Amino acid sequence: MPGYAPNATFHCIALFGRLRGRRVWINASVRLVTSDHLENLLHENRHFPPSPEFAEQANASVAMYAEAVGDRMAFWDEQAGRLSWEKRWGTTLDWSNAPFAKWFVGGRINVAVNCVDRHVADGFGDQVAIHFEGEPGDTRAITYRELQDEVSQAANALTALGIEAGDRVAIYLPMIPEAVISMLACARIGAPHSVVFGGFSAEALRSRIDDAEAKLVITSDGGYRRGAPFPLKPAVDEAVADAPTVENVLVVRRTGGEVVWTDKDVWWHELVGSQSTTHDPEYFDSEHPLFILYTSGTTGKPKGILHTSGGYLTQTSYTHNVVFDHKPGKDVYWCTADVGWITGHSYIVYGPLANRATQVLYEGTPDTPHKGRWWEIIEKYRVSILYTAPTAIRTFAKWGREIPNEFDLTSLRLLGSVGEPINPAAWIWYRNVIGGDRCPIVDTWWQTETGAIMISPLPGVTATKPGSAMDPIPGISAVVVDDEGKRVGRSEGGYLILDEPWPAMLRGIWGDNERYVEQYWSRWPDVYFAGDGAKYDREGHIWLLGRVEDVMNVSGHRISTAEVESALVSHDAIAEAAVVGANDDTTGQAIVAFVILRVHADVSEGTVEDIRSHVAKEIGPIAKPKRVMVVNELPKTRSGKIMRRLLRDVAENRSLGDVSTLADPNVMALISDGLNGPSADDD
Ligand code: PRX
Repeated sequence: MPGYAPNATFHCIALFGRLRGRRVWINASVRLVTSDHLENLLHENRHFPPSPEFAEQANASVAMYAEAVGDRMAFWDEQAGRLSWEKRWGTTLDWSNAPFAKWFVGGRINVAVNCVDRHVADGFGDQVAIHFEGEPGDTRAITYRELQDEVSQAANALTALGIEAGDRVAIYLPMIPEAVISMLACARIGAPHSVVFGGFSAEALRSRIDDAEAKLVITSDGGYRRGAPFPLKPAVDEAVADAPTVENVLVVRRTGGEVVWTDKDVWWHELVGSQSTTHDPEYFDSEHPLFILYTSGTTGKPKGILHTSGGYLTQTSYTHNVVFDHKPGKDVYWCTADVGWITGHSYIVYGPLANRATQVLYEGTPDTPHKGRWWEIIEKYRVSILYTAPTAIRTFAKWGREIPNEFDLTSLRLLGSVGEPINPAAWIWYRNVIGGDRCPIVDTWWQTETGAIMISPLPGVTATKPGSAMDPIPGISAVVVDDEGKRVGRSEGGYLILDEPWPAMLRGIWGDNERYVEQYWSRWPDVYFAGDGAKYDREGHIWLLGRVEDVMNVSGHRISTAEVESALVSHDAIAEAAVVGANDDTTGQAIVAFVILRVHADVSEGTVEDIRSHVAKEIGPIAKPKRVMVVNELPKTRSGKIMRRLLRDVAENRSLGDVSTLADPNVMALISDGLNGPSADDD
């Protein structure tokens, strides 16, 4: 494995000594961490204090920590005051029915009005909300007034289609303004949206439509990616062909490509375009459902994470303000995530628009038509705040600094990172090459479930350390604990937990309260277990160490091993499958599949390629295994649990760890034999 130092394992064991051996997955979590993290974790003493100029103008202040500790509820009341409420709440938090929280109880609010109308009412109708940059080079600047008109039209259109408050709407769109407009229109009429990432397959879309019982799907004919149009509508046609709940499909024309038309279909430009630009908003309870977003869990079935209105908007707005130091009307903000993920929900749509941001929305990939596209966009719009993922930063570092060096990036004043641990080398590259050594970096830890940023430096306040997300932000409590749930000491590692409810927390798993309690609240009483390993450094700052369960993190996207395995075994030729995430220089982890073929399977040269395509079809291209290894056996414990740790050793070309708990110690030799069979590398 590149960059792997045998010492890293030694350090892991030393650091995790108190926990070692109690649970297999402690080892697994250590494996998720590259030697870089640990080496630097042990020796990383660099601090980057804020410059006096930045500190002086910062939105955050050191006093906020003490304020929040002094009176947490008063602190959150103050943050909720950032928003415009039709009726003020009574109680800040009702936790009497834990773990089902109610925040800002009795308050009434309209999320879309907060993100759009109030800015127009305040006199900022002419400010650009969205600079849209299409991949083919088409552009559109949308002011807050125009956004208000279009969201109102879309809201009227949804009502015309029979959508009422509480009905679910699935959104399956590329990164075009209509995605944002659709989400806001749903929010405006109180219809929870379920955005399904445009890269997911028809099957994945169908299962999400069914689980949420969506009444409407909003999609487009297609989008642009890597310089060419791609179709989206056929996947929707397949997904809704016999979906009992879907009454209509609203279709945006983006590429002008041919589409098959069914009697459920309605063109966006015909229906939305003909609606009134006036819409009287209704106000909803603070706890009214805002959206469902599906994420991977440890079983094959995706979990519909439920978020509600007042608390979610409070924390996304607050964090966007203090963590990104956003100044409305001055900054140009760009979050490179897709709206199909939580980062797009919280830090493209809700947080930034609530804060009257001017932002860039980019449809395409970083290397089309050339590898400097992102830097060209930053230069063109004078982007001042950039929020992206370590996987992108590592890719750019691989392409070389010569590319960004050709562009004027002096408008940048703050850089953010999210999605996975950022190794110190990538952090330093980001700071030097992109940030010109002057921009603070905020490494933000959070999850689909937390809804908003939880652990991060505060720019202008925190002296950052490359590779560390540092501390819980004011108002949030996050602790690293041992197996018994006791806080560990400095220089010790364990599990990251959240021991106080927070406003943007998930309110449950759609349709499955039991699973919610079991999944997140059962490991220790009254404590949310995030599923991540973490440690404190010598100064007590938090370092994230990756997932501790069988969830992979590929390019910042969570993909469950179980989901990929179940897709694999649905292939005719496959009898059994095990999937691991192997360290990958570019994508963080890459999916490596070990498969046992059926005895009578008709195996030809194309089988492995066919297996990979099959997974892409079942789940989406993002879940396509990078490598498929055909083996004769899988390593299992006596209780029949697959020992992924050993498979990860194989996938990362390491010598094997402890094999003593294997049911059949000879199995690893058999696997090596099996590896002489066909395998495939990525495209
Ligand atoms: O393992 C952590 C990792 O991403 C997981 C959450 O994934 P998802 O719900 O898809 O949300 C991603 C965007 C918020 C976490 O459990 N993760 C996220 N941010 C960081 C991180 N790991 C380390 N450092 C981060 N800054």
